[in-house]
Formats: sequence, structure tokens, C-alpha cells
Amino acid sequence: MTETKTFDVKEIRKQFPILKQKVNGKNLVYFDNGATSQKPQVVIDAVANYYSTINSNVHRGVHHLSQLATDAMEASRDKIQNHINAPKREEIIFTKGTTDGINLIASGLGKGWLKAGGEIIVSALEHHSNIVPWQMLCEYSGTVLRIIPMLENGELDLDQYVSLLNEKTKLVAVNHISNALGTVNPVKKIIDLAHDAGAMVLLDGAQAVPHMKIDVEALDVDFYVFSGHKLFGPTGVGVLYGKEALLEKLPPYQGGGEMIKSVSFEKTTYAGLPHKFEAGTPNIEACIGLGTAVDYVNEIGMDLIGNYEQELLKYGTEQLSQFDKMRFIGTSKNKASVISFLLGDIHPYDAGVILDKLGIAVRTGHHCTQPIMDFYSIPGTVRASFAFYNTKEEIDQMVEGLKKVEMMLS
Ligand code: ALA
Repeated sequence: MTETKTFDVKEIRKQFPILKQKVNGKNLVYFDNGATSQKPQVVIDAVANYYSTINSNVHRGVHHLSQLATDAMEASRDKIQNHINAPKREEIIFTKGTTDGINLIASGLGKGWLKAGGEIIVSALEHHSNIVPWQMLCEYSGTVLRIIPMLENGELDLDQYVSLLNEKTKLVAVNHISNALGTVNPVKKIIDLAHDAGAMVLLDGAQAVPHMKIDVEALDVDFYVFSGHKLFGPTGVGVLYGKEALLEKLPPYQGGGEMIKSVSFEKTTYAGLPHKFEAGTPNIEACIGLGTAVDYVNEIGMDLIGNYEQELLKYGTEQLSQFDKMRFIGTSKNKASVISFLLGDIHPYDAGVILDKLGIAVRTGHHCTQPIMDFYSIPGTVRASFAFYNTKEEIDQMVEGLKKVEMMLS
């Protein structure tokens, strides 16, 4: 008989020690999960246990501790491989985070893959980290950057996307979910169209992995990048998935220890995957902690997490709609649990400061997506991004907080 899992938010909250805190004398309401998520005790313990029991460098020592550390780190790679359904463990590269993963690919493609006359397509919805590395690459390679425009509701204009694709397109780099608006992009369609045109696709999955099950094989995506700290794991670690055949051909990102087969002054040869892209001592405890985080979310169930967060999104949107002067920024049909908004002409920063006094953490500003803010001609938004440990009661608290904001500033 298969066990039916249930979702119990009260029990889940007990596993996150930070959520018991008071901020400015009020119960902490943490709605800044898009920036970074909180960590369950098991992840904190995994990092502490590494230091208290097996701290040692990996892939180098024959001694006992080094082997234990190596085994723990490599077990984490296996967990991540299974979690995103990558065909091979060698296709999982540990990075510093999403930004590092994108820069790794941009750097590799810059070394002979992309030449003058070639084109890269990004979208109007991108985080700066999926714009600037490509602009830098275009600057020195002569490649041209093309932009998929966005629509008023925060969706991509797919007709325009189709018209941008051509035989010069080498790469399409878009986010799976927009960090600023929560738009879930139709990535399977985007990938299939790119492949039909002969282009590769990189997906920035930073905002997707905490909310949904990812299957890189089903997506047939060429590169998928994400950060550990948004997936309830430690900071300083991320993952680049890449198709083996492509990673084999890409030149190394950084040179150093660990990424070589042999070194001499005449000729150095490189290690195979994944180590070719992992120069230097990795963030070992964070790699291990990320494996624990992956186990943790799977224990709860990504489907249950996704369903519960959709309930929060619906409830939050309904409750915030009671404000006459509420303006939602980003109203796409398919959204993750992110609500970006403006309340009348109150500056997002002022709203954020008052909410903070009430113990409520939201992000305010342009969210590293200035082109989106320019599109709407706004300085920024207030962004509440929910995780599965948030509750409807916390949303009620934010609504009460916003009433105070309105009273004080309108
Ligand atoms: N990219 C992160 C955010 O959206 C930091 O807040």
C-alpha cells in the first residue's frame, strides 16, 4: 500500500528555528523567500556535523576523513541528479550559485563557440545575472543580443520570440520563473522552438527549483542553473546541469587544482566531468547541506509544496485586492507564489520600512530587474514571495500592516 502524504504547515514550521524569532517585538513574518529561503534544522545540522565530524578536503586524501567528506559530497551530487532527473551524475556541476553557473557557460561559449554575426536571445523578464554576462560576451565576441519583449501582464510575447529565432541564433537564455513578477514561462515551448532553429537553451531555474519538480530530461534543456540557498540549502553553492556532450566540448571555466588530469610546463590535460569545471576546493559543507535540503523537500513532496503555495498565492491575491489603490505588477495566468505590488503612490521602500517595524520582511526595489521596472515606468515594487512554511495568518498580518502603511503615508 502506498502511503498518502499530508501537508501540515504547523509541523513544518517547527523545523525552521529562525521562524520562532521576534523582529521588532513582533512575530517574524518572512516573505522574502525569493531573495533567500530559511533553513530547516536538518540542513543546519548537516553543515554543523560536517565540521564537527568529517571536516577534510575532498578528492585528495587517502585518509579516513577525506574519504568520508568525499563520499558525503558525491552522495549529494547523486541526490541532486535524481532530484532534477539528470541522465548522468557527471552532468551535475557544483558552482557558487546561479550567477556563477551562467558566467561559467558564458565564459565557455565565449572561447570560440560564439563569433561575430551570431545571436543570443534573452528575455525582457531576466534578472541582471542573465543579462549582463551575455552583454559582456557580446561586447568581446561581436555576438548580438536580442530581447524577447514582454506583455503588460508580465508574460513573454511568444510571437515576437518566434520572429527573433533564425539560423544565426546560437543560444536562448531565459528564466523558468521571473523573480520579480512570479511569471512561470512556457519553457518547454521555448526550448522546442529554439531547438527547431538549431539553438541551445539555458534556463535560469533559481526561482523555479524551490516551487516545483524539475525534470531536465523531459524538458530536453541544454543547461539548467540554480542556487542552493533558495532551495532551503546553504549559501555559496549552486548547480549547473548541462548535457554531457556539450559540457565535454566546453572549455574549462577556471584553472587550478582538482580540474586537471596532469600538469607540466609543456602541457596540461584536464580532468573529466564534472571535475573539469570544479577548480579549487569546493564549498564542501554547502554541497553536503544542499543534498540534505533536497532530501528534506522530497520528504515533504514537491507536489504538496507546489499546491500549498498556490493556495497562498490565491489567498494573498484575494486579500490584497481589498485595497482600492492596490496595483499588482505581474498578473500572468501561470504564476509562482510571488506577489509584486504598489499601493497607490506610496514608494515601495517606505512601505517596506514600515512593514519591517511590524516584523514583516518583504523585498522592495527593482529586484535586480531594472528592465522590467522600466517597462512599467515604476521605481520598483513591494514583493512578497511565499515559501511552504508561510501561512494565511501571516498574509493577514501583512494586510493589517499595509493598512497602517496606507494610514501613515496616504
Ligand atoms: N534574485 C534574488 C531576488 O529576487 C536575490 O531577490
